[in-house]
Amino acid sequence: MSADKTASAMIAVAPPAVEHDPGGPLDVGASVIAIPVWPDSAEGPRIGAGSAILAEAVAIDPAEALRREDKTGKAGELLRLPGTGDISRVMLVGVGDGSPADFRKAGAAVARAARGMSRLASTVTAEAGDAELRAFVEGVVLASYGWRVRGRAKSPVEALVLTRSTPERAVAVDAAATVAGAAWFARDLVHTPSNIKDPAWLADQARTTAERGGLDVRIWDEQELAAAGFGGIVAVGMGSERPPRLIELTYSPPHAGPNTPHVVLVGKGITYDSGGLSLKPRDSMVAMKTDMSGGAVVIGVLSALRALGCPMRVTGLIPAAENLPSGSAQRPSDVIRQYDGTTVEVLNTDAEGRLVLADAIGYAVATKDPDMIVDVATLTGAATVALGRRHAALYATADSLADALVTAGAAAGEKLWRMPLVSDYREALESDVADVAHIETRRMGGGSITAALFLERFARDVPWAHLDIAGTGRSDGDSEELVKGGTAFGVRTLLYWLSPA
Ligand code: BES
Ligand code: MN
Ligand code: ZN
Repeated sequence: MSADKTASAMIAVAPPAVEHDPGGPLDVGASVIAIPVWPDSAEGPRIGAGSAILAEAVAIDPAEALRREDKTGKAGELLRLPGTGDISRVMLVGVGDGSPADFRKAGAAVARAARGMSRLASTVTAEAGDAELRAFVEGVVLASYGWRVRGRAKSPVEALVLTRSTPERAVAVDAAATVAGAAWFARDLVHTPSNIKDPAWLADQARTTAERGGLDVRIWDEQELAAAGFGGIVAVGMGSERPPRLIELTYSPPHAGPNTPHVVLVGKGITYDSGGLSLKPRDSMVAMKTDMSGGAVVIGVLSALRALGCPMRVTGLIPAAENLPSGSAQRPSDVIRQYDGTTVEVLNTDAEGRLVLADAIGYAVATKDPDMIVDVATLTGAATVALGRRHAALYATADSLADALVTAGAAAGEKLWRMPLVSDYREALESDVADVAHIETRRMGGGSITAALFLERFARDVPWAHLDIAGTGRSDGDSEELVKGGTAFGVRTLLYWLSPA
C-alpha cells in the first residue's frame, strides 16, 4: 500500500527525443532556437551558425545585447532573447573553446533553460564535429533529467532538433541519445526508494531490460545462491526479510565467434545499506538507497549495447542484497566462505559491498572465461576523502585496461583517477582465523585502497579494474550535465569504452 503511494509521488518522465533534420531552424516547427556563440576577437563574442536568421527571429540586435550583458562566449553561458512569430525565444549559448567538454556544458545549459518547452532547435550541427555534436546532445539529454515530484519540477524539453543535419551525423547523434538514455534509466533505478526497490525488484528491472535490449538473463534466488556457495551474497542478505539475488545479463554481438573478446562487468547492488549490525549513524544512512548505483550502471550499460552495435561479448553481474540488522543478520567476527572458497573474517558488517562483489568476481573467473573484469561500486567513503565528488577512484591490474578506461572517461565527460594497489598495505588484511580479513586491521588508512586490494585477489590472473564511485555516484546539486541526485557515473565511460561510435 504505502509503496504504491510513494510510487505515485514520483513519476519518471521521458528523455527528450533527439531528431536531426535537413531543414533550417525556422523550418522545423521549433518554439525555441539555440545558437552558438564563440569567444572571439577584441570586438567581443561572435555569433556562430544561424546568425543569419536572427534578424527574422528576434526583435532586438543580438550583437548589441551580448555586449550590453557582458557576454564572453564561455562554455555554457546563456543569453535569452525574446523571439518573434512562432519562435518564442532564441538562446545564444557560449561554446567556449569548441571542445567536446565545452559543447557538453553548452548542451546542459540550453536544456535547463528549455525546460517546460516543447521543441528546441539548435544550429550547432554546422559548427560541431561528430565528437562535439555527440557531447552537445548528451549534455542536453543528461541535464534534462528530472523526476516530476508532485508536479513541482518542470518537464524536460520534449524534443531536440538538430538543424541542417545530414544522414552521416546520425551515428553520433543516435549514440549520444542512447548513452544519455541509458544514464536516465540508471538514474531512475538509483532514485527508486528502497521500500519499493529490493533485490527481487531490481531483478525484475533487469528482466524487462533483457527483453527490450536483446539480452539473455538469469536470476539466481536465495536458495540457488546458498546451494552454489555464494557465501558473501548470502551473508550480507541474511539480515533482511527480502532475500538476495544474483542478476546475470549477457549480450552477444550478432557475429560473435570464439575469438570475440568477453568483458564481465560487475555492479554492486546493495538496495539499501544500513550498515547491518555495524549500524550507520542516522545521517549517513539516508543516502544509502543509492548503494546499488554500480548495479544500476551495469544494467544501464547492458541496456544500450545492442543499439550501439557493441562488438564485444559483455556479461553483467549484479549481486543484489539488502544490508539490514536483525536477529538473522551476520555478526562482526563471523567467518564466511566466498564463492571461490576463500574464507573471510567479517569484522564490520558495513563493509558489505566487497563481500558481494568478491562472490561475483570469483564466479566470473571460475565460469565465464573473461578477458577482462571491471567492477563498479559505491564502495568506500574513503574514495571521497581521497578524490572528492568529481573524480572516481580507478584501480587496475593491467595498464592497458586502466589507460583505456581513463581515455574513455575523458571523452565521455567522466573523470577517473588511477590509484595505486599498494603492496605494503596487503598485510593489513591478514587474519588469524581466516584466509583474509575483509577490512584493514592495522590503522594503515587508505580505505579505498585496502578495499581494492581485497577485491583484487578474487580476480586472480584476469585483467581487472575497479571503479569506486562512492564520491561521484551522487551530486548534491544541479551542475552542468549532472542533476541533483544519482549521477549514474560510469555509464558513459563504459559505453564509450565498449562501443566507440
Ligand atoms: N556504501 C558504503 C560506502 C559509501 C559511503 C558510499 C558514503 C557512498 C557514500 C559502504 O558499504 C561502506 O559502508 N563502507 C565503509 C567501509 C568501512 C566500514 C571499512 C565506509 O566507507 O565507511
Ligand atoms: Mn556499507
Ligand atoms: Zn555499501
